Amino acid sequence: MPAPSSQPFCTSSIIGTGSYMPEKVLTNEDLSKIVETSDEWITSRTGIKERRIAAPEQATSDLASEAARRAMASAGVTPEEIQLIIVATVTADMFFPSTACFVQKKIGAVNAVCFDISAACSGFLYALQVARHFINTGNRTTALVIGAEKLSSLINWKDRNTCVLFGDGAGAVVIRRADESVDAPGRVLSTVMGTDGTLADVLKVPGGGSACPITPENVSSYPNTIHMEGRETFKHAVTRMLEASQQALKIAGLTAADVSLVIPHQANARIINAIAERLNLPLERVFMNLDKYGNTSAATIPVALDEASKGGRLKKGDVVLLVAFGGGFTWASSVVRW
Ligand code: ACO
Repeated sequence: MPAPSSQPFCTSSIIGTGSYMPEKVLTNEDLSKIVETSDEWITSRTGIKERRIAAPEQATSDLASEAARRAMASAGVTPEEIQLIIVATVTADMFFPSTACFVQKKIGAVNAVCFDISAACSGFLYALQVARHFINTGNRTTALVIGAEKLSSLINWKDRNTCVLFGDGAGAVVIRRADESVDAPGRVLSTVMGTDGTLADVLKVPGGGSACPITPENVSSYPNTIHMEGRETFKHAVTRMLEASQQALKIAGLTAADVSLVIPHQANARIINAIAERLNLPLERVFMNLDKYGNTSAATIPVALDEASKGGRLKKGDVVLLVAFGGGFTWASSVVRW
């Protein structure tokens, strides 16, 4: 394995993006045959029209590995060049080893150190910040940061409050060290993170861990599925995502007026619209693809970034604001100069 460099005063740049969405589409119409809901309710309350569902034989690491291969191809790097893999997920393949270890095996990144991060929907931005620290301190030069989820494995298909919201998918970026003096494209200018564990019970999968193992007695109450107080989550999401965006912009020495494109966590169009309005940003400068994919938790931002980049929504020099909120509660925001 190559010796980690000790070169200080570095910055991190996103040099490639990739995403993978499973083929199977589950529409609002399909869901209305499973639970008492309608396309009208789901569309008007969330903006979601359909979501992707992974095949039974696909694990989160399979989705993550395909997104990683596509990100490496777009960056022009080989698996051997990857020195760090961080997978952000709440749907790990298993309790251990980490999903990142399975990704390493599947893509052949033999020189990488690998681990997962659990920060729910903020996971990708948490992982980006951790990878950035490894790179900026000179510890590693090239990293894969992946957000990947098979949320269909955590859904109670009898609970209309949650089953209509989530989907499966994966997105990845390759980040690489750049000299501070070089104006490298894709440079991560700032990242802020926050947590409020006093609200940990508002959005959770309560069972299956050490606090509440699954037993024959409790399995019928679906402890191993997503439980969420939707309105409470909504309220905090708007406030925290707004605060985090403003802080990340301030650290980068920018204002909302400088932002070319906001890529927010894709949970609910009403949350996104509320944030855009408070930042005084027209909707043309706000990326949304939740109509196609629903909420894929840690995957939403890297998937959207990949689609924005490959779809011609980003040009060199653009200021991109990434912002997320999720269970924990956790939140994070990052500013990138494309
Ligand atoms: N179809 C039809 N009716 C429904 C459905 C459905 N799928 N789901 C709920 N309802 C009903 C409720 O039962 C309720 O009926 P009632 O008034 O008779 O009791 C009514 O609709 C209103 O329910 P609310 O929960 O108040 O609806 P709300 O407008 O708040 O929308 C939603 C619910 C979409 C969940 C919203 O609160 C939301 O998006 N919250 C935030 C979710 C989020 O951002 N999560 C991010 C993090 S996810 C993570 O970290 C993994």
